[in-house]
Amino acid sequence: MDRGPHLQQHLAESRLRNNTFMPSNPNSFEFIPAIAEIAREAGALLLKYFQARVKIEYKGDVDLVTEADRKSEALILERICSQWPKHNVMGEEGTRIESGSDYRWYVDPLDGTTNFAHGFPVFCVSLALEFKGKRIAGVVYDPTRDELFAAEQGRGAYLNDRRIHVSVVGNLAESLVATGFPSHKRHKNPNIFFYHQITLRTHGVRRAGSAALDLCSVACGRFDAFWEFNLNPWDTAAGVLIVEEAGGQVTDFNGAPFNINSRETLASNALVHEAMLAEFDAIFKGKGLEELPSPVEYAKSRGKAIK
Ligand code: IPD
Ligand code: CA
Ligand code: CA
Repeated sequence: MDRGPHLQQHLAESRLRNNTFMPSNPNSFEFIPAIAEIAREAGALLLKYFQARVKIEYKGDVDLVTEADRKSEALILERICSQWPKHNVMGEEGTRIESGSDYRWYVDPLDGTTNFAHGFPVFCVSLALEFKGKRIAGVVYDPTRDELFAAEQGRGAYLNDRRIHVSVVGNLAESLVATGFPSHKRHKNPNIFFYHQITLRTHGVRRAGSAALDLCSVACGRFDAFWEFNLNPWDTAAGVLIVEEAGGQVTDFNGAPFNINSRETLASNALVHEAMLAEFDAIFKGKGLEELPSPVEYAKSRGKAIK
């Protein structure tokens, strides 16, 4: 499939719209306009690389990185440092600026690198700003759909110029939820059991490959819940604020308030949170686990009618 001309046009349109993001009262935001501009610029850069199909490199076993990750982080860093030279910055591709500031940025220059590297168009830029350990602003930009999710503490969450809210689904059995599987130490991750159990308790579990976008999908009601083990601060910082500002809830797997350094993230529309926690509790205790159907038994039954 030749995506070239379509993406070029999309990029041009996106640039035209570049300054149109802003909810009804732009003055009510302190940081979002500037962060949104940086995220859009980085997103445009990612799209150019996406179109050219970049070379894949390995950070670990199956932990991929591309030139696009590094170039995007360099661009974001340059823009942050020129506007806020005293702020601390932590970026996935190695940026560590510790200057004693009360402000700290979390930068994921490309969330969804594996998707990106394979030409699967689900990836984004994720930028968050913390003040004295509290998340105060977050932006997640998906350049393939030109969707910019943004929130400032106490001022609501937005998708482009529209205020967003979590879903009103209150029954886990009627929920669509999402998860992710880390590439690092993946053989030590028990998530497949959670995936199986929760699949059987809901309308389904999606695994799209970008934690930041998964969180934003909870914020705007596309998903009713999302969980993942072992995410990093740059994966979650912006998305968690966006979920909370959209009326959702984010905790660890015991229901304790989310902590940026926690290795557990459970986000939901708040209505199915207790039910998700109850499922997690049962799974951790090995209670009521549905048995995984045996592939060996399945193979034996092949050719026979399956009822
Ligand atoms: C990854 C994505 C993915 C999640 C992984 C993350 P990256 O981030 O968010 O959805 O399952 O745990 O590492 O490496 O593409 O920035
Ligand atoms: Ca990430
Ligand atoms: Ca990344």
